[in-house]
Amino acid sequence: MTDPDQGVDDPTEEPADPFAIGDIFVREELLRVGYVPERDRIIGRDDEIRAVGKALGPAVRGGPPRNLLIYGKTGTGKSLVSKHMAREARSRAQQNDVNLIYQYVDCSNEDTETRAARELALGVRDTLEPDLDIPRKGIGASEYFRHLWDLLDAHDVRSLIVILDEVDKLDGDDDILMTLSRAEETGKTDTYVGIIAISNKIQYRETIGERVDSSLQDREFVFHPYDANQLRQILENRRDAFRDGVLSDEVIPRVAALAAREHGDARKAIDILRYAGAIAEETESSTVTEDHIDQAMERAEADRFSELVSGSTPHVKYILIALASLTLSRSKDEFAKKDIYTAYKKVCRNEGSDPISWDRVSRLLKEQSFLGITESRHTGGGYEKGSYRVHSLNRDPEIVLKALNSGKDPI
Ligand SMILES: Nc1ncnc2c1ncn2[C@@H]1O[C@H](COP(=O)(O)OP(=O)(O)OP(=O)(O)O)[C@@H](O)[C@H]1O
Ligand SMILES: [Mg+2]
Repeated sequence: MTDPDQGVDDPTEEPADPFAIGDIFVREELLRVGYVPERDRIIGRDDEIRAVGKALGPAVRGGPPRNLLIYGKTGTGKSLVSKHMAREARSRAQQNDVNLIYQYVDCSNEDTETRAARELALGVRDTLEPDLDIPRKGIGASEYFRHLWDLLDAHDVRSLIVILDEVDKLDGDDDILMTLSRAEETGKTDTYVGIIAISNKIQYRETIGERVDSSLQDREFVFHPYDANQLRQILENRRDAFRDGVLSDEVIPRVAALAAREHGDARKAIDILRYAGAIAEETESSTVTEDHIDQAMERAEADRFSELVSGSTPHVKYILIALASLTLSRSKDEFAKKDIYTAYKKVCRNEGSDPISWDRVSRLLKEQSFLGITESRHTGGGYEKGSYRVHSLNRDPEIVLKALNSGKDPI
């Protein structure tokens, strides 16, 4: 035991263990995004779980799985529920003596057909035959697929479930969807292949090719945002990430209320809680306070926004810069598309880029509004005045400009 009165320089004092866990967290991993909680920690997604279960149900009994297209705003549990259900399907199939495997592919990392096919083939290899050598470089998508079919057939796999997360990031490259959805029909393999494709872009459906559309058409399902109550339970279930007594009673309800007001995004709620803990730790506080939550909100907001727009095309960024600058420079926060378009053209001029059409800007604005970055509504107008749509930024304009690396006076 060290004597608390001893000075720090006392040579007999044991040096502090540099690997010791801090005063705030005990199981910080519970707050990581990739963490897949057990069924009893998954809150308020019964219908969603049932929908995925219905698609995978036949496969669990040795029949063909159905494809499923999942849509929903960010942080609504799409990735989580899909991974959880794939894992469940595998263990249920095992009980039925059915050889079913699944593979998760994050298309935001693997954004070309070859990379996605490689991820899939190597993942399946790791499951079925870890010692098998498949090159990481120098071969194309079709060869990865050949390895995949060979593996599936060699191991007599009845069903393969492929989760293609963030499938819209494949950049219009829908060949992988085609290949997978037609694999059995075209005699590539005897294994049934089921696809769970996930997107947070509602327009994705319109952009996938006709051919794929018809084979993926089986069913689609939309995940809805969480309410404050559900968010509170989701956070309560991860309270054990923290040491006892670190979270005072009001912390979780407050984070849940804040996150619910801001679009019911569970990821954001969990991030805020984690950041609040990290800030408490950085400031050597022994409890998480409201002040930490406020700072965490800001940090989560900036992070989330950067992540959301990181894959966006330059024009999406220009539109957001235009809207953020208008919001900062005028004393209002709702703007007609005409004004946004004018400001957007100025941003383009400064960036040395040709503006895209009014219609396309409109489409992009709609997409941003689906992502919850902007909001739009019809003005009251009435007959004489005519009602029209106005758009506003749902984020702090300064954070937006900072995240988009925009200069001070972009318009
Ligand atoms: N119903 C739930 N119960 C418990 N935790 C949840 C629930 N829904 C989401 N989470 C947690 O919230 C975070 C975000 O969920 P998830 O990654 O599944 O969202 P998503 O819908 O895939 O979002 P995105 O479109 O941004 O990828 C994860 O850490 C996940 O574990
Ligand atoms: Mg996801």
